[in-house]
This record gives sequence, structure tokens and C-alpha cells, in this order.
Amino acid sequence: MEKTSVVYNGVSVKIYGTADPDKVIISFTDEISAFMKIKRAVIKDKGRLCNGISCMIFRYLAGKGIKTHFIEQLSDTEQLCRKVEVIPIEVIVRNVIAGSMAQRLGLEEGVVLKSPVYDLCFQNDALNDPLINDYHAIALGLADRKELDEIYSVTSEINGYLKEMFEAAGITLVDFKIQFGKLPDGTLVLDDDVTPDSARLWDMATGEKLDKDRFRHDNGKVGDAYRTVYARLEKLLEPCE
Ligand code: C5P
Repeated sequence: MEKTSVVYNGVSVKIYGTADPDKVIISFTDEISAFMKIKRAVIKDKGRLCNGISCMIFRYLAGKGIKTHFIEQLSDTEQLCRKVEVIPIEVIVRNVIAGSMAQRLGLEEGVVLKSPVYDLCFQNDALNDPLINDYHAIALGLADRKELDEIYSVTSEINGYLKEMFEAAGITLVDFKIQFGKLPDGTLVLDDDVTPDSARLWDMATGEKLDKDRFRHDNGKVGDAYRTVYARLEKLLEPCE
């Protein structure tokens, strides 16, 4: 399928329109960014690894009955997806204390939470996706109560399936960010992607970080970490063609 216009021009992902108005092509680049895109680099092969990881995860979730925008993998770095009306809320799921939660609340990183925490963030790059709550989301017209209830319920299911999947790969799912969109008929679907760029993944045996924190904190071997995640998931799940 031919790419037409650029719909979204991000650092690690570009989205293109296609001749079919209901479909888009998502293309993963080798670029990585952090801290409001101030810190940037190129990690060789990252586009292929993130596309492959997200593709395997979305197929796995679809197999569990989760509705997603994903249609098929087109190439090493590209996937075909349904075009959605994006709900401008980033949903962060936390199973273990880390990152901004540890900083904001003065808590020790690595402590397993008694139950998952769901944070909502208003998707706005210029404001660094600020934290909001249900009241903001409804009052600002980002989603209504029914949609939020469905988002929380599906997010909880997704967290359960992903925790189980990563555990089988010897990886602790510390936290992750997801996003939802609506199909033309109003059906809520998981969109965006799930990769080590948007999830904290720790090796269960060694505690080694296998995600973007390696880049954020200059730990090195970012590509090797992403390759480890890819290889372990590939062993568990069929890679898609
Ligand atoms: O920064 P924070 O600790 O709140 O991030 C929680 C999780 O959400 C991390 O896995 C991070 O990579 C992801 N995240 C993201 N995009 C954002 C904010 C957070 O992928 N804009």
C-alpha cells in the first residue's frame, strides 16, 4: 500500500495516510528522544526492533480479545493500522514504583505496588503531557464517563495480559503508557504502540533495565536491551510477517 500525506511527524514514529481513508501506515525510525525531545540520538536498528515488538504485542493482545487499531506488519519498520480519532489522553499504568511517580511522591524506586496505579495525562507535547484526573478529562471534553470506565476496564485487562506475557519472558512490567482511539463507528480501540520506548521493563533475574531509561540515564547498550526484549518475545510469540 502506497504512503500519501504525512499525518504525524514524530521523532521515533511517523504516520502516513494511504489511498484508503480508513487506514494509515505507521513507520518506526531509529531515532530516540527524551526530556521533551531535548536529548536525541539514533540507535541503529531501533525502528525494526520497536515495530517488531509492538507488532508481536498487538497480535498477542488481539488474540486475547482486545480491540486494537493494528491490521498487519508491512515491512521491518512499517505496520498498517486502522485510522482512529485519537483520544488525547495518555494512560500510564504502574505496577512498580519508578520514574515520575517515585520523584513526585518521594518514594523508593522498585517497590511493588499493592494494586496497579492508573495515571491520566493530557496529551500535549509543549506542556510535557501533564497529569490530569477523571474530572479534567470529562470537564475538558476529552472523554465522557462511559468512555473513561471502558478505558479503565480495558486497560486493566491489557495490564493483566502484558504482565503475564512479560513474566513468561523473564521480564517485570514496571510501568507503561498506552493510548486509545475511536473507529468511525465509535468503537474504542487500543492505538499507538507498546515498545521499550513507552514501557519500563526490568530483567526479572538481574534487575537490568531493558528500556528507554538506559538512554535517559546514559547507561549505554540501548540497542542491546531492545534486542533482548525482541528476542525473548519472539521466543514466546510468533513474529508477524
Ligand atoms: O515518566 P513516567 O515515570 O511518568 O513514565 C511512566 C511510563 O510511561 C514509562 O514507561 C514511560 O516510558 C512512559 N511514558 C511514555 N510517554 C510519555 C510519558 C511516559 O511513553 N509521554
